[in-house]
Amino acid sequence: MKELIEQLKTQVENAEIKNTTDLEQFRIKYLGSKGEIKNLFNDFKNVPNDQKKEIGQQLNQLRMATEDKFTLLKEQLESSDESAGSLDFSRSGESFPLGSHHPISLVRAEIIEIFSRIGYTVSEGPEIEDDWHNFSALNFPPEHPARDMQDTFFIEKGENEMALRTHTSSVQVRVMENQQPPIRTISPGRVYRNEAISARAHCFFHQVEGLYIDKNVSFADLKQTLLYFAQELFGEKAQIRLRPSYFPFTEPSAEVDVSCSICNSAGCNVCKYTGWLEILGCGMVDPNVLEASGIDSTVYSGFAFGMGIERITQLKYKVNDLRLYSENDIRFLNQFKSAL
Ligand code: PHE
Repeated sequence: MKELIEQLKTQVENAEIKNTTDLEQFRIKYLGSKGEIKNLFNDFKNVPNDQKKEIGQQLNQLRMATEDKFTLLKEQLESSDESAGSLDFSRSGESFPLGSHHPISLVRAEIIEIFSRIGYTVSEGPEIEDDWHNFSALNFPPEHPARDMQDTFFIEKGENEMALRTHTSSVQVRVMENQQPPIRTISPGRVYRNEAISARAHCFFHQVEGLYIDKNVSFADLKQTLLYFAQELFGEKAQIRLRPSYFPFTEPSAEVDVSCSICNSAGCNVCKYTGWLEILGCGMVDPNVLEASGIDSTVYSGFAFGMGIERITQLKYKVNDLRLYSENDIRFLNQFKSAL
């Protein structure tokens, strides 16, 4: 026994390792639950009583020495030149490809943020919509051109003819059907129109539409809300002007221009030398629309507005071709890395 202990001691003392596999083998061989030292401890019961004290001490020493050696080897390995030798610390780091937010997402988030500060919630709805929510409940007459195949994508869905929604006003009908005033909500989302794709038109784009319904809501409230929005988005010097317009679902209706932030209203090719840029449509919700959605138009009134996110993005980031938004060209998208 004594000899065996001595032998092992020298073996352990002289043990050398090159890598983690060697280290693990060392551990299993000497310190493992079926290892050499454990075996010696198992045989200890056969040692004659008069030698037990001495041998016991030697065994314990061997175990401690082996554990120390193991720790030492491990530390050596961790700090050894051998494992670090394959690393070149002077090499510059590899760049980690970071994504960026899409400009449409950036502007969408900013618009939502601006309206949430004055109490607007966010509502979303389906992109495949029925005639009622996209047209009829919004007071579109049967012969309205938007109902034409030329302008809208229609699809068959079972028995029903459905359409890809042409605006997110459809979501507002859904909100009014399910909720009584006061209602203050915006509906961002993708919309579809049957247009030939060019720099200035696309078959899909994104909108944010807003709806505010309560008692005594007036056109002045609408105007003030839009002025607040324009100044938050384009800076406090921004001005708005309203021009009379027509939408089936609002009466009166207006088209809203914002002062051109690119030339400070001096006139440039973006504002076509007028100093103004058209950014949204709005109006007081037509009583027919309120009634169609189950809201008493003798008690409540409200306003609605709608804008294209691409248009706002174009003005904020000076992007002059709508197609860039959906081409996924990394050179375009990379330019928005620092924007959030
Ligand atoms: N729905 C209109 C559009 O898609 C925008 C709009 C919304 C106009 C609400 C007036 C009121 O162009």
